[in-house]
Amino acid sequence: MTKRIGILTTGGDSPGINAAIRAIGKALDNEPRVQLVGFQDGFSGMLQESVVEMESRMFSGILTTGGTILGTNRDQPNKMLIDGKEVDRTIDIVAAYHKYGLDGLICLGGSDAQDSAAHLMHQGLNLISLPITIDNDIPYTDTTVGFNTALEIASEAIDRLHSTAISRHRIIIVEVMGRESGWLTLGAGIAGGADVIIIPEIPYHIEKISATILDRVSHKKRFSLIAISDGAISSENVKFFEAAHKASLRNRTDEEEAEVSARLDKIAKRAAGDTLHLANRLENFTGLETRVTILGYLQRGGAPSAADRVLGTQLGTACAILVQQGIFGVMVGAHSGGVEPVPLDKVAGLVKTVPADHDWIRGARLVGTSLGD
Ligand code: F6P
Repeated sequence: MTKRIGILTTGGDSPGINAAIRAIGKALDNEPRVQLVGFQDGFSGMLQESVVEMESRMFSGILTTGGTILGTNRDQPNKMLIDGKEVDRTIDIVAAYHKYGLDGLICLGGSDAQDSAAHLMHQGLNLISLPITIDNDIPYTDTTVGFNTALEIASEAIDRLHSTAISRHRIIIVEVMGRESGWLTLGAGIAGGADVIIIPEIPYHIEKISATILDRVSHKKRFSLIAISDGAISSENVKFFEAAHKASLRNRTDEEEAEVSARLDKIAKRAAGDTLHLANRLENFTGLETRVTILGYLQRGGAPSAADRVLGTQLGTACAILVQQGIFGVMVGAHSGGVEPVPLDKVAGLVKTVPADHDWIRGARLVGTSLGD
């Protein structure tokens, strides 16, 4: 009997997704007992009947392409954005899974993809996932598909900004993606020789950053490069939100507390990564002209690096083998050069941030880079 396996991408796109889709498709292509069914634009495609029977021709010519041939969005089964509000459509997703006669569903994406896969597994569905995001923030995998490409792009950007910073004697702040985790900024900052690296895991002190820059000026280095994560937060903001949290919790029920905490978390996230504000303050403090370059979606666009094509192929083909074996409920992780299936329950709900004692942090400090603390 033929098995019908669904496949979708969810969350932010990432270079190397197509390499993984191709690997899954090609590895299953000679397997007449498996039919792949693609859903467009993530989970919403399951509800909106945006479905395509995946034919072999669709897997050709996509290895080197960026983005995802399936399209993607940030909807999760229990958090679908409808008229600006999050709605739980889990029941409808489960119904769609059965309506399409699926025997399994492959989810490609970042931490939200792992959470959604685990959530649907708990509804009794057969889920398998791949860790694909430029953020590298997924636990139980050595790295994620897309991280290497974004690292190359961000490092090259810092290299290029160096020559203009040197020529114009400026501070240049480069904002790098990564949300709550600083892997990309730290890696690119080290590779590009940034003088200051600011990551979300280490709240920054504006006076410390200014002191580093002024010290460089006193040593006749009239330029500075700062790499900062889009989720970076100042120590002042940390203190402010801690106090606001404490004050707002007085005389509240547990339910009210949870609501207030969630609201404050949202505001704190919005306050993070205010790079333009930091630039203005630094210019004031140091008297040096300061410019900002936000790398934004450049880091996610375009062809994947060779390393990401290899990783996407490795994880994708391993996923195909697990599907053939009828093994579900796992994320296909990369481990010590090989592949290791990890139970979805272990991965869901977690974000891999940079540990304070990580070698990259130690290395950056030892070569004299300030981490803004
Ligand atoms: O999670 C991937 C990522 O690119 C983050 O690094 C970035 O902060 C975020 O997505 C941007 O999200 P969106 O694509 O929804 O604007």
